Amino acid sequence: MKNAELPFIKDMFNNIAPMYDFLNRLLSLKRDVKWRRKMVASLDTPHGGASFLDVACGTGDVLFEIYRQKGISSKVTGLDFSKNMLDISNDKIRKSAYGKTSLICGNALTLPFADGEFDGLTIAFGIRNIIDKKTALLEFFRCLKPGGSLAILELTAPENVFLHHLYMLYFEKVLPEIGGFFSKNIDAYSYLPQSVLKFPKNSEFAATIENSGFEKVCWEQLTLGVCTLFKARKPL
Ligand SMILES: C[S@@+](CC[C@H](N)C(=O)[O-])C[C@H]1O[C@@H](n2cnc3c(N)ncnc32)[C@H](O)[C@@H]1O
Repeated sequence: MKNAELPFIKDMFNNIAPMYDFLNRLLSLKRDVKWRRKMVASLDTPHGGASFLDVACGTGDVLFEIYRQKGISSKVTGLDFSKNMLDISNDKIRKSAYGKTSLICGNALTLPFADGEFDGLTIAFGIRNIIDKKTALLEFFRCLKPGGSLAILELTAPENVFLHHLYMLYFEKVLPEIGGFFSKNIDAYSYLPQSVLKFPKNSEFAATIENSGFEKVCWEQLTLGVCTLFKARKPL
């Protein structure tokens, strides 16, 4: 059955939304901020006035980073299917100078945008939760302008055997305890390691990006491979 996991994922993010930012910073030792910064910096888009879509925007951190790096005149849209995550994003936007941001409650698999609407498209820590990655990538391709830039950030398991073991120890034993304690949702933080382990190898995922029509596909491992940045371009 296609995308049967969607209601479970949506409920999970609706539940952990109030603690999401705090736990992200704590569990990644603030690396998440640097990783998002790197992702936005990798976008090859015109400076000033360019249009961006951040899919699975959650509590909105990527949206702020886009304004910070690409200029206040950027046209920025965030989309997520969790209302509670979007509410937090909305609160943060209202308290900021970025009032024109457009936030949409929607599904990454059926994006409510016209063909070729965006210069840049990002998704940070969201593609892992989407089982039907090919359909999502085809949607990303459709919504980008020719020459548009795609950047995908995702948690990955380190390939080095020693690091992999250390990482799994942290991920399977420490992280669910801390995440469960603060969020009162142990299932969500037990699901996290499972979803990372199920994520395809970097080369396999890069091949899926290429098979969805993108060119210049490449990836860069960050922080010893616990996070990977994938980059690609829609052909002109
Ligand atoms: C781990 S959070 C990442 C949030 C944000 N991008 C960040 O950098 O912190 C994953 C987000 O993906 C959203 N999500 C998962 N599957 C989705 C889908 N099919 N369509 C839209 N949003 C989805 C969840 O609601 C959640 O807010």
